[in-house]
Amino acid sequence: MEQPSAAVSLASSFRADNNMTTKVTVAPNGLWNLDSLGILDNIRKDSKHLLITDKNVEKLYLRPVLASIERAGHLVHSIVVPAEESSKTFEIYARLVQDALDYGIDKHSVVFSLGGGLVSNLAGFLASTLYRGIGLVHLPTSLLAQVDASLDFKQALNFSHGKNLIGSFYPASHVVIDPVVLRTLNPRLIRCGLAESIKHGLCQDSEFLDFVMSHHNRLGEPEFLAETVNRSVKMKIDMMPDSLHSDREETVKQYGHAVGHAVEFLSGGDIFHGEAIAIGMCVSAEIGKLMGVTDEDTVDTHYRILSAVGLPTTVPYEQSLGDIWNKVRYDKHFLSDRAYTGLLRTIGVPGQGSADHHGYWITRDILFRAIEANRENGNRRTY
Ligand SMILES: NC(=O)c1ccc[n+]([C@@H]2O[C@H](COP(=O)([O-])OP(=O)(O)OC[C@H]3O[C@@H](n4cnc5c(N)ncnc54)[C@H](O)[C@@H]3O)[C@@H](O)[C@H]2O)c1
Repeated sequence: MEQPSAAVSLASSFRADNNMTTKVTVAPNGLWNLDSLGILDNIRKDSKHLLITDKNVEKLYLRPVLASIERAGHLVHSIVVPAEESSKTFEIYARLVQDALDYGIDKHSVVFSLGGGLVSNLAGFLASTLYRGIGLVHLPTSLLAQVDASLDFKQALNFSHGKNLIGSFYPASHVVIDPVVLRTLNPRLIRCGLAESIKHGLCQDSEFLDFVMSHHNRLGEPEFLAETVNRSVKMKIDMMPDSLHSDREETVKQYGHAVGHAVEFLSGGDIFHGEAIAIGMCVSAEIGKLMGVTDEDTVDTHYRILSAVGLPTTVPYEQSLGDIWNKVRYDKHFLSDRAYTGLLRTIGVPGQGSADHHGYWITRDILFRAIEANRENGNRRTY
């Protein structure tokens, strides 16, 4: 009698490497001269393209930027969103999809973002999802977007539970950084951008911190901003790994962000992203001290440099420990009732939590004690 054949099983795997490269160009006055920078050469002329910007940046820069894209023979439709963090939502995203499809974008279209981190995240997420991925070019105009958000693969929307909960990993093909546009950025937003640069300095380069300290009362000077952009872009690119999910680089890029995102979200927009990250980094320093990882001088340096440039350093008293924990729970690295964060041993030297992980697992108790220490010590440290 014929035996039934054994069930056929297949064990195999394949690697899908889409090999995307991001070219970064830092060019003073580059935004008015996109046609001569060569970045538009590889973009299809027979497709229609989109440009997303916000209301403030529209008034300042949309016209000359559009003109420089159109000079290269491209057809671009611009969409303007409100200049506030609440534009990073599913509702606005859905409206952008509708508009993009009505306009007739296709697989070879490109989404340009012109603005701060809000616009780069929104446009980046849109580009990553339309037809499962179309072209993306970032034209960042805030310091924070020039030194951080536009260079990252991470594209995101916020949700009612917390920040950046819907998102994708999707690199831009080109980022054009024009430090000249920083002249219209107000001092509060310059400080916010500096928070992310200081994050890289704390984790990677103590000399950059000296440079910032020596200019702390001249933050708006064009030479300082241009040098800050150049040095920060280099530090950030050093942290952009080949693998989208590399733990070592992620713990640097996300330094201070678990608590920072919670503080930003709970403030309902009163505390800006860079300010919240400054507070979050001080809490990370306190966590490191409590866990025996971070030395006292390093903790002190956090408070000293961040307060010298006018950034906040303490968690607001009106945010309860329980509320902060409930938001930290939605941090993307949170697992099994513990938060996960990078910590520093000393300036420029991140610790290593275990043989497998660069970050450290943080219990609720440690986090609460660190926030209490931050409120107590932060107020006592005057510089
Ligand atoms: N994906 C990432 O890796 C990453 C990293 C850092 C921050 N982010 C995100 O970036 C956002 C914060 O970015 P942001 O601080 O740029 O905020 P933003 O985009 O909201 O811009 C802040 C303000 O600056 C204005 N602005 C921008 N450029 C200007 C210019 N040249 N002159 C005058 N005004 C200008 C904008 O209109 C806005 O009012 C947050 O949503 C944050 O989550 C993402």
